[in-house]
Formats: sequence, structure tokens, C-alpha cells
Amino acid sequence: MDRQAVIDLEEFGDAFRLDPHPVYARLREQGPVHRVRLPGSLPEYWTWLVVGYDEARAALADPRLAKDGTRIGLTFPDEEMIGKSLLGTDPPQHTRLRGLVARGFTMRRVELLRPRVQRITDDLLDAMIPRGSADLIESLAYPLPITVICELLGVPDLDRAEFRALSTEVVAPTGEETAYAATTRLGEYLTELIEDKRASGPSGDLLSDLIRTTAEDGDRLSAAELRGMAFLLLVAGHETTVNLIGNGVLALLTHPGQLADLRADMGLLDNAVEEMLRYEGPVESGTFRYAAEPMEIAGTLIAPGEPVVVGLSAAQRDDTRYPDPHRFDIRRDTRGHLAFGHGIHFCLGAPLARLEGRIALRGLLDRAPGLALDGPAEDWLPGMLMRGVRRLPVRW
Ligand code: HEM
Repeated sequence: MDRQAVIDLEEFGDAFRLDPHPVYARLREQGPVHRVRLPGSLPEYWTWLVVGYDEARAALADPRLAKDGTRIGLTFPDEEMIGKSLLGTDPPQHTRLRGLVARGFTMRRVELLRPRVQRITDDLLDAMIPRGSADLIESLAYPLPITVICELLGVPDLDRAEFRALSTEVVAPTGEETAYAATTRLGEYLTELIEDKRASGPSGDLLSDLIRTTAEDGDRLSAAELRGMAFLLLVAGHETTVNLIGNGVLALLTHPGQLADLRADMGLLDNAVEEMLRYEGPVESGTFRYAAEPMEIAGTLIAPGEPVVVGLSAAQRDDTRYPDPHRFDIRRDTRGHLAFGHGIHFCLGAPLARLEGRIALRGLLDRAPGLALDGPAEDWLPGMLMRGVRRLPVRW
């Protein structure tokens, strides 16, 4: 069979960054998997992009798709500078690493954080509400999740401005060199952070526990794995829930009927949050996977070593799975959405993200009657990993 021609997503320019859904819809019409050049990548690089729902779900849980590049002879500079994280490993390494942190993120453990998450939200709203207008990202969507993850890990004094700039550059690069520099700096930054933490002794938080594991039981967690774990948890805390709150509020404010329905019956809130995740989820595509052996996706041959990206945003608008998929409908059956991934790499932080998203939205709607957009929300992040706006001007 002839190989598909490469579709250059870069050619769609800014329109694709602002709204990728029309492009995904056209791709889906042509088939569930395509050979594409990702925006911002080198011209000679291409990857398979899965856009159909069934194929995306299957690919996320397919053990033939390796997360660990060394299985196919690849090494990555970021992993060398920082260390391997859960998202760069396969079983048995993945199973061991996930086992070390899973306990901290169960539904039950996360439920214990509820009063603290509520308190942080209330404090942020106390500061924001009297002002009458704000950038919602700066005032609520960003500080809430980052405060929570820093407290959980035990790094309350993290230099947030610096960490945020570095972390955003890594997940939504503005250029090859800037991304490389940011990754190098992040590696140094995490080494310093862990050293400081080690020096200050055990304090019962997640990072202290992990540091103790490294010291007492280096077989279970190496120093590089510790850096990789701290990196992933902090970045996940910085880059994802912020966009659940941002994209979710934006969807409500651009669908006044849905907003009114929700205000009239806040019992709909939990399902509304799931629809926000389906309609405009914070993670546009899964992280890279690589065929570890010859395989087919919907009849397309994927050769060993070839990269595969699962288009989560694309799959969640597949009309074979979700009728009328471009409609934002807080009452719809959202089951099976892929916003948190699927399979063994299913998001570790999903219970925490849901708790934060629900508390933030309830608090905001309660305290900001007449909430409305206060200007266009156009500053969408570059790249295809994250979907979110840098600024969301609102008034009430
Ligand atoms: C709404 C917010 C969030 C969304 C949409 C989200 C989405 C995702 C997705 C799609 C994956 C799988 C990626 C893949 O398979 O390529 C993932 C994995 C992960 N997420 Fe989240 N995430 C969110 C919040 C969080 C938070 C708050 C944390 C931190 C506590 C977190 C920690 C992780 C970790 C550690 C993994 C890797 C799991 C593994 O490989 O076993 N996430 N997330």
C-alpha cells in the first residue's frame, strides 16, 4: 500500500492555533489516522496523528506503542537533562514508579484536600471579586492549582514566576532553542529544589517521602527518576487544571444558554465539568508514543520506531462517538471522554483536577453574578500538546 503523503499542519498557520477543530474535522472525514508534520516541528519530522475516537482510545492502551524511547533505540535530551518520568516509561519501570505515588492521589486522599482547596479558592475570590474585572487566568485559574500542587509536594516557596515561564516553554515551545534552554534550566532548578528539600529534613509531604525513598531504597527510585517525577507533577500542576478552568469558563461565557441552565441548577455542575473536558480539554494531544513492532491502525501500517500522537481533542469531537460533537451541552452523556487519557498512563491527577475544577467554577459562579467576557480570548498557546489561553479577560 502507498504511504500517505505528509499533511503539513504548519501550513494552517495561526488559524489552527486559534481553532484546530475544523482541521481535525476535515482529517476525520478522510480517515482515523494521518501522517502529519506538527506545527513548529522541523520540516523533515513527521508523525502519525490519530483523530478517530475508537482508534485513539485503542492506541492509548496499546502496549505495542512504547513510551520509553530506549525500546526503539531513541534517547531524548529532556529526559537526559531532567530524568525519566511516568510518561516516558513502560512496564515494569512504569508500574514501579506509579506505585510510589499512586497512594497520594486516590479519590479518598484527594477528598481530604477539599477544605484546603475551598479555602485557597475563597481567598483568591476575596481578592478578585471587589475589582469588578480581571484576567481570570492570572487571578484564579493559575494560582489555584499551582498552590495546591506546591503544598502537596511541599515546595510552598517555589519561585512561581520563574517555574511557570520555564514550564510553559517546555510544554508549548515558542522555538527550538528557547525550549532547549528552558529544559536545561529546569533540570538545574529541580536539582537545587531537591537538594534544598533534602537539607531541610523530612516534613511529611510527597516530595520528602520520595526523597526518603531515594535515600533508603535507591533500587526503587533513582535520583534521575526523582527529578523526573517532581518535574511531571509540578508541570502537570502548572499547565493542565489552569486550562480546565480557563477553557471551561470560556465555553460557558460563549454559550449563554448553557450558562443560564447551570446557574439555574448547580446540580449540573459535575457533568458540566466533564463536558468542558470533552469539548475543549486542556491536553490537545497525548504525549509521543513509538511503535515498538510493526502494527496497523485502521489498516494503516505503522513501522517500528515511527512516532504516533493521539489527538485527544480531535477524538472527542468524533461524531461516531458523540452526536453533534461541536455543540457544548452540559447535559450530554460525556462518558468515555479521553481528556485524561486512557490505559495505564491515565492521568494520575484526575481526581484532584476534578475537585479543583468543580470548586473553582462553583465559587466563581456563586460570587460573580453577571460574569461575562471583557474582551477577546485569542491568545491560545502554541503547539499541539496544550489547549488553553494565556489570558481570559472577564468582568461581573
Ligand atoms: C484537567 C487537568 C488535567 C488533564 C486534562 C490531564 C490530562 C492528562 C493526560 C491526557 C494524561 C495522559 C497523557 C498520555 O497518555 O500521553 C495525563 C497523565 C498524567 N497526569 Fe494529568 N491531567 C490533568 C491534571 C493533572 C494533575 C493536577 C496532576 C498532578 C497531580 C496530573 C498528573 C499526571 C501524571 C503524573 C500523569 C502520568 C501518568 C502515567 O504516565 O502513569 N495531571 N494527564
